Amino acid sequence: MTATSRIGVTGLAVMGANLARNIARHGVPVAVHNRTTAKTKEFIEAYGDEGTFTAAETTEDFVAALEKPRRIIVMVKAGAPVDGVIAELTPLLDEGDIIIDAGNSHFPDTVRRTEECAAGGLRFMGIGVSGGEEGALLGPSIMPGGDPSAYAEVEEILTSIAAVVDGTPCCVHVGPGGAGHYVKMVHNGIEYADIQLIAEAYDLLTHVAGLDAPAISAIFEEWNTGDLESFLIEITAKVLGKTDEKTGNPLVEMIVDQAEQKGTGTWTAIDALGLGIPLTGITEAVFARGLSALRDERKAAAGTLAGPNPESSTDRPDLVEDIRQALYASKVVAYAQGFAQMRAASKANDWDLDLGAMATIWRGGCIIRAQFLNRIRDAYTEHGDVTNLLMVPYFTEAVANAQDAWRRVVITATEQGVAIPAFASSLSYYDAYRRERGPASLIQGLRDFFGAHTYRRIDVEGSYHTRWPQDGVEVRTDA
Ligand code: 6PG
Repeated sequence: MTATSRIGVTGLAVMGANLARNIARHGVPVAVHNRTTAKTKEFIEAYGDEGTFTAAETTEDFVAALEKPRRIIVMVKAGAPVDGVIAELTPLLDEGDIIIDAGNSHFPDTVRRTEECAAGGLRFMGIGVSGGEEGALLGPSIMPGGDPSAYAEVEEILTSIAAVVDGTPCCVHVGPGGAGHYVKMVHNGIEYADIQLIAEAYDLLTHVAGLDAPAISAIFEEWNTGDLESFLIEITAKVLGKTDEKTGNPLVEMIVDQAEQKGTGTWTAIDALGLGIPLTGITEAVFARGLSALRDERKAAAGTLAGPNPESSTDRPDLVEDIRQALYASKVVAYAQGFAQMRAASKANDWDLDLGAMATIWRGGCIIRAQFLNRIRDAYTEHGDVTNLLMVPYFTEAVANAQDAWRRVVITATEQGVAIPAFASSLSYYDAYRRERGPASLIQGLRDFFGAHTYRRIDVEGSYHTRWPQDGVEVRTDA
């Protein structure tokens, strides 16, 4: 084996195969490897003429085929398989070689692997890659995290294969250690919220507006020409417009209503809880998938638990427009929360994340790509370190304009008994966030009553406890 490949890809399932093809199509010689050799052979037979590939049967041959410093993309299932591949590669590599995990790994694993590899003189990168199979082949959004010196060795390749929007590649060095996988995790969380909001809009259009799937498909197509223009809205129109060949029904009506998940949404929600960042939109989206999975329980409850007598409100001509506005406002909240989470994580981990750059690299290639991300990028360019995107004039105004419709939708859905966890919780977040004074004073009073947990006063400094059941006297506890 001569070391002629500039980069290697191990793990040739669809994502790995498509990334390898994308790289080779850009004129970079690629070594390919898979645990089962048959897969490598199939790959070469199918795509061998798309570029310069070196097919390696063994890990030793794979490593030997690579120029130094060796650059190896690992594209295997997140979790133990990644550790397995690293363990196989490590003894064969030299100081300064680079292992790049491009799967959906949990960022604490990336932090650990970075340290473990560094102890052996290796450079490890965790990079988020979004865009599904097609994105991997034609141009994904890439979120590289890890040692900047390692990034410098792969920057040219990664930026050349990424999606491009307005001449800018959707790939930028995110930060050290687990930063790339962290940002990809939040991307996926936002994807969950976006999808949930779309599903709630679909539910309302079906069960409140009384429209059928083809009609709703046309509405989404129309929505895709305005503020909501995005990949997910575009494909919603396509999914809803598809007729089932077997039955002639809309295909969406023939699909089991249980949403599955691979865990990234849950990680995002758990991380937000740890950071103390209110992340209601994404978290409700994860819960909604969990509730959808309880199909048998729902079936039993449907015949047992009372609801209102739903009436179709098709006579409300503004309903469809109200739903569009509620969807937009809730989406603004979901992104504001996700970006607030990244800001908090950046501070907690010293990552120095450039949030405007994150919005920029999500404009193309990835699942949440949307026009809207241009507005977020502009917000950071114009206003710097924004605490909450809702406070940026463009979004303040957008939500103010949508709020009446948003409230009407939440009221109507509640009256009609249609569950809208993401719409409703986003509105509650908005209402709680814009309150100068909320009811948490009572929470503090209760905590102090039953557990002497103390409270602070609005008029004077210090920490106080009232001897509630005893003599009712307030005492200062920190003096
Ligand atoms: C992407 C996607 C992708 C993710 C799927 C499925 O950015 O290309 O986020 O990474 O695996 O969307 O995720 P769930 O199975 O959890 O819905």
